[in-house]
Amino acid sequence: MNTDQARERWALVTGASAGIGTAFARDLAARGFNVVLVARRAERLNQLGAELEDQHGIKTLVAAVDLSQGGARERLFKATEAQNIQIEMLVNNAGFGIDKGYTEQELDDQAAMLQVLVTTVAQTCRLYLPGMVARGHGRIINVASMAGVMPTIIGQSLYGACKSFVIKLSENLHLEYGDKGINVTAVCPGLTRTEFFGPANMEDDVKDVGDFAWSEPEEIAALGIEAVTAGEPLALPKGFYRTYARIVGLLPRWVQYWMVRKFNKTASGTNPH
Ligand SMILES: NC(=O)c1ccc[n+]([C@@H]2O[C@H](COP(=O)([O-])OP(=O)(O)OC[C@H]3O[C@@H](n4cnc5c(N)ncnc54)[C@H](OP(=O)(O)O)[C@@H]3O)[C@@H](O)[C@H]2O)c1
Repeated sequence: MNTDQARERWALVTGASAGIGTAFARDLAARGFNVVLVARRAERLNQLGAELEDQHGIKTLVAAVDLSQGGARERLFKATEAQNIQIEMLVNNAGFGIDKGYTEQELDDQAAMLQVLVTTVAQTCRLYLPGMVARGHGRIINVASMAGVMPTIIGQSLYGACKSFVIKLSENLHLEYGDKGINVTAVCPGLTRTEFFGPANMEDDVKDVGDFAWSEPEEIAALGIEAVTAGEPLALPKGFYRTYARIVGLLPRWVQYWMVRKFNKTASGTNPH
């Protein structure tokens, strides 16, 4: 593909103002994609957009959107349609955690979590897939979590369930649209060095976790892009998490439940988000 053709390729990254989303935007821009940058903090998105345009000679579009609000996905879709932007690579990455027990969480916070982690992922796939199918080519990366792969530590009941939804939806869409040129991947980070833990008051929970359990956001972005390019519907970080998931997956469910309870009592700081 020559440079002019490459410049017409567009990716859309939600949660591009920080962490894993910024890493996705940087990686995709370096691969020649123009990028739609989505999050609430417009100033950060504008700064990132200017940096990417400068470094890689690509185009960016900033969409300052609160994805917890009803109608946000449709407005985003209309904004890209209005610019004649055809999304080839959709990255559903925006997300957040809440560090409280299920019954202590505010109903509004839970509603926002469902909107951002579940509804947004389902609806952006619904909105952008038809164009991809019509063009016979598309890539979707949905950022899930190790918390969606295995029974989750106590206190992450809703978050883990949202991430399980993301994995299931990704696998199902991959199977349903794979023969139409569409690859869908759920990438499942474990602990990753981003701003995730600050707003959720989880910094103390994770501060003593050893380096073996941590990834850099750039590693997660590369993992997701390589997996979706290769047509793998599920991508787990190499090393600790992949081995852990394999071993835990072999155990009977009741042993997994016992481990979660035990783990929670003795080492709440090793929650594989
Ligand atoms: N870090 C980890 O250990 C870890 C592990 C497993 C999975 N994950 C998942 O990875 C994804 C990225 O998280 P991260 O670690 O990169 O966290 P982060 O550094 O806190 O970034 C979160 C991003 O999501 C955006 N966001 C949050 N709420 C939003 C809303 N209502 N509307 C629009 N954008 C919103 C934020 O942007 P604004 O605040 O500007 O809106 C920010 O860009 C999430 O889905 C998270 O669940 C993270």
